[in-house]
Amino acid sequence: MTTERDTIHGEWAGRFTFFLAATGSAVGLGNLWKFPYVAGSSGGGSFLLVYLLCLFLIGLPLMMAEIMLGRMGRRSPVNALRRISQIHGHSRLWKWLGVVGMLIACLILSYYSVIGGWAYAYTVRAASGLFMGQTMDGVVSLFARFASDAEHLLAWHTLFMLTTVMVVSRGVKRGLEFAVTWMMPVLLVILVVLVIYAVRNADVYNAIAFLFHPDFHKITPDVVLTAMGHAFFTLSLGMGAIMVYGSYIGQRSSICGLSSAIIITDTMIAILAGLAIFPLVFSFQLEGIMIRSDPGLLFRIFPYVFGQMPAGILLGTLFFVLLSIAALTSAISLLEPAVAWLVESRGMTRPHASAWAGFCVWLLGLVSMLSFTGLNLRDMLTAVSAWLGHYSPMFEHKFYSQSFFTLIDFMTAKLLLPISGILIAIYTGWLLKSDVSKQELSMSNWSYQCWRGLIRYVTPVAIFVVLLNATGALAWIIRLINN
Ligand code: PFF
Repeated sequence: MTTERDTIHGEWAGRFTFFLAATGSAVGLGNLWKFPYVAGSSGGGSFLLVYLLCLFLIGLPLMMAEIMLGRMGRRSPVNALRRISQIHGHSRLWKWLGVVGMLIACLILSYYSVIGGWAYAYTVRAASGLFMGQTMDGVVSLFARFASDAEHLLAWHTLFMLTTVMVVSRGVKRGLEFAVTWMMPVLLVILVVLVIYAVRNADVYNAIAFLFHPDFHKITPDVVLTAMGHAFFTLSLGMGAIMVYGSYIGQRSSICGLSSAIIITDTMIAILAGLAIFPLVFSFQLEGIMIRSDPGLLFRIFPYVFGQMPAGILLGTLFFVLLSIAALTSAISLLEPAVAWLVESRGMTRPHASAWAGFCVWLLGLVSMLSFTGLNLRDMLTAVSAWLGHYSPMFEHKFYSQSFFTLIDFMTAKLLLPISGILIAIYTGWLLKSDVSKQELSMSNWSYQCWRGLIRYVTPVAIFVVLLNATGALAWIIRLINN
């Protein structure tokens, strides 16, 4: 049985536009700050091999499943899942999978927007020549002052959300499609310019050895789990972004071909980012600082690096424009599921829906923003309990000293995303009849059987292990077995 093939939001002009939009969603801050340092510090070439395996064994089947569900449902993830499960006689509760995805997307966007705001601010600072000739201590204290200045952060976070809302409110054709068709080529050109500069002028040998030299001793179970987790986040899976984009593609596109192209491009861009960043890091002997997980690092190291170069103003500005574009094209895909749902289910116009969704995310972002200025969960609980008339938090826990940002990151990337990934795999692999998915994916019998085997067994089991690891349950189980 097939579903009706209408979408009230409009369709991409063609396959290539979908490819650009989905790649824009996938290529984000994760590619630019996370991939290079994870790859370098987790075994270089050997990590890359494990990561590629994860992308193709877990990421590819899941991405195909999401695009397929989107294209079948032709609605926002919530309504697409409701519609598909109604037509195929499954429980209506499956629509909650779409709800969870939409909420995760809003939560992630709330802090993504704060960091996107940093990128905007640093573009202006780089262009003004502020970093020229600064010492390392100088740029570190510049960032510390910036990150604790709530007014500045608020202004940039607001500006980032406003641009995101503006793009999304213009709709699929005039907003999303227009934005990605000029931003993605610009992103690629800037990246290539930075790579050429780094390769010609900086320490490319050490960088290549760091990124690609295989060191199989570093491949521990932990590294494999990190590779799986990153594969999941970098492909924007599990939160409806790819599903909603899938609902705007036409019928004749090959889902497998498109997904493979998106994954290959995302990986190539992550590698190029490594080749732009690490030669500079090695030239300035900053590798000791760089091997840490922290998005703020790019803002602490690179102003110094560019400040020492003759063409620093131009290159520095290009670098932060690159970060801003990467953040913005991901942000619009995070807002789209909620906006599409508000338009469909609440009868709002697109501008109205975008403004509402954007406003709620902006509010949430304020808490993330304050957590960068030092607010932790204990402070928040104390404030709430004081407001409620009790003057102390209910009980003590070491978790309270964490920031709200850490909490959201843990809840979304480590907990909810894997859970929603497993459920998508179960739904498409076990509940959806094979003749339906086979017709929808329209692949050769052999490739279809591979996809089905992966989505039924490999994907859910692998994600489940990642989930156990992220929550600490795996370590507990291993200790139990060892005793
Ligand atoms: N893939 C993005 C990155 O690597 O930074 C993050 C992201 C964007 C996740 C959009 C999810 C999403 F829907």
